[in-house]
Amino acid sequence: MMNLGLKWPPNLARVVTSVLFVVSFGLPVAVEAQVSVSPQEHGPQQQEFVHGAPQVPSLEWTLAAGGRIYDNWWEALDRDEPEGTNPAYPASAKQEGAGTWRCKECHGWDYLGAEGIYRKGSHFTGIKGVMGARGLPPEALMATLRDANHPYTPEMIADEEMLRVAVFLSQGLVDMRSFINYETRKVIAGSGDFTRGRAIFQTTCAACHGFDGRALDWGAPGEHNYVGTEAQELPDEVFNKISNAHPGAAMINTRAFSVEDRVSLMNYIATLPDTIDE
Ligand code: HEC
Ligand code: HEC
Repeated sequence: MMNLGLKWPPNLARVVTSVLFVVSFGLPVAVEAQVSVSPQEHGPQQQEFVHGAPQVPSLEWTLAAGGRIYDNWWEALDRDEPEGTNPAYPASAKQEGAGTWRCKECHGWDYLGAEGIYRKGSHFTGIKGVMGARGLPPEALMATLRDANHPYTPEMIADEEMLRVAVFLSQGLVDMRSFINYETRKVIAGSGDFTRGRAIFQTTCAACHGFDGRALDWGAPGEHNYVGTEAQELPDEVFNKISNAHPGAAMINTRAFSVEDRVSLMNYIATLPDTIDE
């Protein structure tokens, strides 16, 4: 959703923050970690980057855009949230409501469905993963994405947009078992290159998340949720967020970096502070 500048107080908070920056003459200012406003609020100048498409899309942009639709298509595409539970969602499974329309809900953040992180727990559906799509021509996947298991109308996800998802499935999936321990759900120590991960974080992510990852907090009051918190608890989800960006938020993605670089980034961010008082 675009923020037209009518919401208060979030914008005022931002104005105050910018004023602080200006009067500090560019010196580093210790800005309090602010509990951020809805990630779906961003300025009109960011509407195109967050929800639109470039005139000549690169493969990297397409993979990230497809990955964001896989994560949450209505936030990615700025559409209405679907009403009610997805009729294709198994009645025996535990989730309900709009979330059951997300690809990740049935196929997992790790693309392994019932063989992966969702093999047990409240997200279990018994549905297989999407790894079988790897390497297939994207056009060949379109029939599956429009079959009875996938009751998405073109008003929800247009063909052109669904094709981005197909490209993502064909060329953008990574087997996370190489760097996540599936018993503990933690990043495996020694995966990737910590020093390289730190370099990427400090030069890109820190612009918004701060050097220690605590400048943005999307937790509930009294329950902080920083980059470090989430990387330690939900690395499979975070790998999607860093590869494709958080749908609807004005966040960059790391598709132009290699898979090895993204794993190195995971290694580093899993060491960032996860609470306020560390
Ligand atoms: C409500 C649950 C559900 C949701 C949400 C869902 N799918 Fe599926 N998907 C299924 C089921 C069921 C199958 C068939 C699995 C089987 O053949 O055992 C399937 C099959 C697939 C397959 C074929 C897998 C294979 O190897 O045969 C792909 C690819 C796929 N889905 C992609 C997606 C994408 C992309 C989205 C989001 C746009 C999505 N799915 C959303 C339930 C879901
Ligand atoms: C241009 C600003 C910007 C940059 C750069 C940026 N992010 Fe974000 N990021 C955001 C915003 C905005 C959110 C949404 C926060 C919220 O939900 O309140 C977000 C959310 C996240 C989330 C949480 C997603 C969730 O599940 O809710 C993670 C994890 C994350 N960013 C990691 C990173 C990493 C790692 C990098 C560097 C590769 C990065 N971000 C770069 C702005 C940015």
